[in-house]
Amino acid sequence: MSRRPASLARRLADGGNFPFVGSVQSKTHASSLLSIGLIIVGAILFVGYLYSGSGGSSSHRHIVSKIEGGVSCTLELQRALPVLKKAYGDNMHKVLHLGPDSCSVVSQLLKEEDTEAWGIEPYDLDDADATCMSFVRKGIVRVADIKFPLPYKAKSFSLVMVSDALDYLSPRYLNKSLPELARVSSDGIVVFTGYPGQQRAKVAELSKFGRPAKLRSSSWWIRYFFQMKLEENESAMKKFKQASAKRSYKPACQVFHLKSFP
Ligand SMILES: *[C@@H]1O[C@H](CO)[C@@H](O)[C@H](O)[C@H]1NC(C)=O
Ligand SMILES: *[C@@H]1O[C@H](CO)[C@@H](O)[C@H](O)[C@H]1NC(C)=O
Repeated sequence: MSRRPASLARRLADGGNFPFVGSVQSKTHASSLLSIGLIIVGAILFVGYLYSGSGGSSSHRHIVSKIEGGVSCTLELQRALPVLKKAYGDNMHKVLHLGPDSCSVVSQLLKEEDTEAWGIEPYDLDDADATCMSFVRKGIVRVADIKFPLPYKAKSFSLVMVSDALDYLSPRYLNKSLPELARVSSDGIVVFTGYPGQQRAKVAELSKFGRPAKLRSSSWWIRYFFQMKLEENESAMKKFKQASAKRSYKPACQVFHLKSFP
């Protein structure tokens, strides 16, 4: 949830500087007094900037999500990428991620060798950074409602990963979007969903999905996948489990490995 604070700070900074600039130009005789004031304001902003920057952006995120008392399965997916790489190997060469903060997942994936990545961001990108805006301009990340068919041909990706998105869909829409994930992938789907009773991190953005997250149990999902004729990929499950144990990685979200449609 670093977005909200970032845009708030930007707005405060914009609103705070503009009137000062105006008065410097119109009343030059007061300029020396004003410049002292500006120096003080500048010093305060600078110290504030140093202070907020000292923790680095990832720990800043962490602190924010902890304050809100929630878990983000998108962050969890990013933490799990090295483990997923062990489980899927070359099948991770062409990845589509669906979910909030898709830009950060995509940029992390693109740092990997021999990996191409695309993203579907289900939220409006009001305050995307420059990297994210360039992804959107190039069509690498698209803002799209996952309730509707995905704008990709069959088997466009080797692996589709989804986080913090299916939890918001009712069975009626799940019935449409899960087969879509199976359609656009060739070597599997990795699903990250919250555990029942878990607090969600993205509270403020719930409304954009139109309904709150419904966190379903593992047995609910397994029954549902069965109904939809989506099989779990036992080999991927096993490799993921082994790689997790090796790295003492314990996912804070439920992780499912499904096969694509043949
Ligand atoms: C979703 O699909 C399943 C399996 O085809 C079906 O049994 C169920 O009634 C559907 N649910 C809704 C809400 O359409
Ligand atoms: C199952 O996962 C493995 C990776 O562990 C992958 O190589 C294989 O293609 C997957 N099978 C299917 C049918 O998706």
